[in-house]
Amino acid sequence: MIRLSLLLAVAACWNFVASHLVITYPGWRGNNLLTTGRTNEDTIPPDNLGVRYNKTSDELEYPYGMQWIYPCGGLATAANRTKWPVTGGALSFQPGWFNGHQTAFVYVNIGLGTTPLNYSHPMVPVMQLTGPSNSMYPGTFCLPQVPLPGNITYNVGDNATIQIIETAVHGAALYSCVDITFADAKDVAKVDGSNCFNSTGKDGRGGPMGMNFVYTATGLTAGAASLPVSWTTMLTVLGAFVFAALL
Ligand SMILES: *[C@@H]1O[C@H](CO)[C@@H](O)[C@H](O)[C@H]1NC(C)=O
Ligand SMILES: *[C@@H]1O[C@H](CO)[C@@H](O)[C@H](O)[C@H]1NC(C)=O
Ligand SMILES: *[C@@H]1O[C@H](CO)[C@@H](O)[C@H](O)[C@H]1NC(C)=O
Ligand SMILES: *[C@@H]1O[C@H](CO)[C@@H](O)[C@H](O)[C@H]1NC(C)=O
Ligand SMILES: *[C@@H]1O[C@H](CO)[C@@H](O)[C@H](O)[C@H]1NC(C)=O
Ligand SMILES: *[C@@H]1O[C@H](CO)[C@@H](O)[C@H](O)[C@H]1NC(C)=O
Repeated sequence: MIRLSLLLAVAACWNFVASHLVITYPGWRGNNLLTTGRTNEDTIPPDNLGVRYNKTSDELEYPYGMQWIYPCGGLATAANRTKWPVTGGALSFQPGWFNGHQTAFVYVNIGLGTTPLNYSHPMVPVMQLTGPSNSMYPGTFCLPQVPLPGNITYNVGDNATIQIIETAVHGAALYSCVDITFADAKDVAKVDGSNCFNSTGKDGRGGPMGMNFVYTATGLTAGAASLPVSWTTMLTVLGAFVFAALL
């Protein structure tokens, strides 16, 4: 229900937003989907296209949209934190709320403390998501168990911020965050098929959504590039090795 009303709200103000990624579980820091300070005619305003202060409205303006601003799409740390398991937990998001995200690299990082000084702790390897189309699409992707980076002690009651970065096909990066407080898993909002799912394209919930891990093949040959390798490719290759071994 929350998800549906959010989608409707996003769709309703489509002319005014260049929205990209929405974190649906465990929530988000706030709405950073605004694009303001752009002229109606799409000409360049006299004070240019940078983020700027509008004296009349007493607000910052984001001609390209808030979500492009590091580290959390232009939003300051929120007071309304969400509880998230101290053992790691689910993360669900919709990456397709604008054109250009048929494929998207997605990074998930954690920043430690109430107002993190950095987001230098990756939680999962970089992924390449695939969506159904290069136009905007309503598809949800969910990782049911995102682990916490090792060699750091996490206690119930500690604060942290989870950051999701999505890069568009041209490489520009969109930033979204959710502020969390670590809690016992039993005290955290329940995760089930209603708030954590991968859209299949057949269930009326958008999609289909796919995902490949991006492996960095360092050490194979000098200058080897990172290649997106799909699970099916991996399985095919593994299968071929097994088959060869059996012959
Ligand atoms: C926190 O408050 C903002 C602003 O009201 C809201 O948009 C956001 O959904 C809230 N986040 C959580 C995790 O409750
Ligand atoms: C500043 O904000 C006012 C009030 O919202 C708006 O009418 C005006 O167009 C804005 N100025 C610029 C340069 O965007
Ligand atoms: C976590 O954040 C909340 C809300 O901002 C704050 O009241 C609390 O003191 C913080 N907890 C710690 C351990 O810093
Ligand atoms: C990032 O912040 C953490 C905790 O605040 C700190 O331990 C770590 O050294 C920082 N990392 C970098 C690269 O600045
Ligand atoms: C933790 O630190 C040890 C010692 O520095 C290191 O060998 C190990 O690889 C680290 N583990 C992780 C998960 O980063
Ligand atoms: C969504 O797909 C990814 C990649 O295949 C998988 O790791 C994850 O468990 C799936 N999520 C759900 C809720 O099944």
